[in-house]
Amino acid sequence: MSSPDVPRAFLYADPAAHSLSPAMHRAAFRHAGLRGEYTALRVSAGELGEAVARLREPGVLGANLSLPHKEAALAHLDDLSEAARAIGAVNTVVNRQGHLTGENTDAPGLSAALGELGVVFGRNETHPTNDPVVVLGAGGAARAAVYTLLGLERNVYIVNRTRERAEELARMPGFGEAKARAADPHELPWPEVRLIVNASSAGLDAPDETPLPGFDFTALAPGALVYDMVYRPRETRLMREARAAGVRAENGLSMLAHQARLAFLAWTGVDVPTGVFLEALEVAR
Ligand SMILES: NC(=O)c1ccc[n+]([C@@H]2O[C@H](COP(=O)([O-])OP(=O)(O)OC[C@H]3O[C@@H](n4cnc5c(N)ncnc54)[C@H](OP(=O)(O)O)[C@@H]3O)[C@@H](O)[C@H]2O)c1
Repeated sequence: MSSPDVPRAFLYADPAAHSLSPAMHRAAFRHAGLRGEYTALRVSAGELGEAVARLREPGVLGANLSLPHKEAALAHLDDLSEAARAIGAVNTVVNRQGHLTGENTDAPGLSAALGELGVVFGRNETHPTNDPVVVLGAGGAARAAVYTLLGLERNVYIVNRTRERAEELARMPGFGEAKARAADPHELPWPEVRLIVNASSAGLDAPDETPLPGFDFTALAPGALVYDMVYRPRETRLMREARAAGVRAENGLSMLAHQARLAFLAWTGVDVPTGVFLEALEVAR
């Protein structure tokens, strides 16, 4: 039974039942020694406005938002972080005395995950700025990925099944002067590419699906990394084929853990180690 003086956080999504977020945030409350509850609620598009309004109540820390609410929520919030504004999507709402701020922790979550994997930030002798990187997909996750990679001073190519959506994404005003461009696979300088980020949902719950059918991974630059935001299954076909060609490939669990860590930090001020979130994901799988 929920007690009104226990701080509460929520996930609003539709569907919400299979989310891994409750396991992660409950583990974080335990690790931090804080009383707190995290509840996943199925909220339909039509219910979103009222559900967001309830986040203003005392005792509510905020909420995570997932499909289909990340963009629609913007209209119901009081202000937005720079990343949320640029990306046009919110995955974390923070309640401060009834004032709701929308944040996007997917972008810094990806950045932290790539940093751990040795993707360097800014200028560097071995990874000069303007290194070409490839983002697969043109939905909300791809917007966060492009924003992150432009911030790392990378030359971003967007490859999407529907080319027009890649072109729209490349023109997003939130990206300012920085340049991203839409491309088809045959147009890319693959021998220079050290990083592919799959931000499409190809492969999600579909072990035989890939966003790059027939791709020759040996064409990539030496030491290249394939980062697949998809984490269900743990090894996607994209990862399997990259690894078979000797290319390093990782799934999106580390990004998932980091975005949760950053949301928890925004709500509570406590920076719980990423390992706590990863361990919860292992137990919940
Ligand atoms: N690891 C993390 O923390 C994290 C965070 C956020 C999202 N994600 C994952 O990122 C993925 C994308 O999420 P989203 O919110 O951006 O979804 P979305 O807005 O629905 O976009 C889906 C994208 O995937 C493309 N796509 C779908 N099926 C495809 C296929 N069979 N072949 C090639 N392209 C395909 C779509 O292409 P069209 O434009 O042609 O339809 C579209 O660009 C999901 O799997 C999600 O779980 C992971």
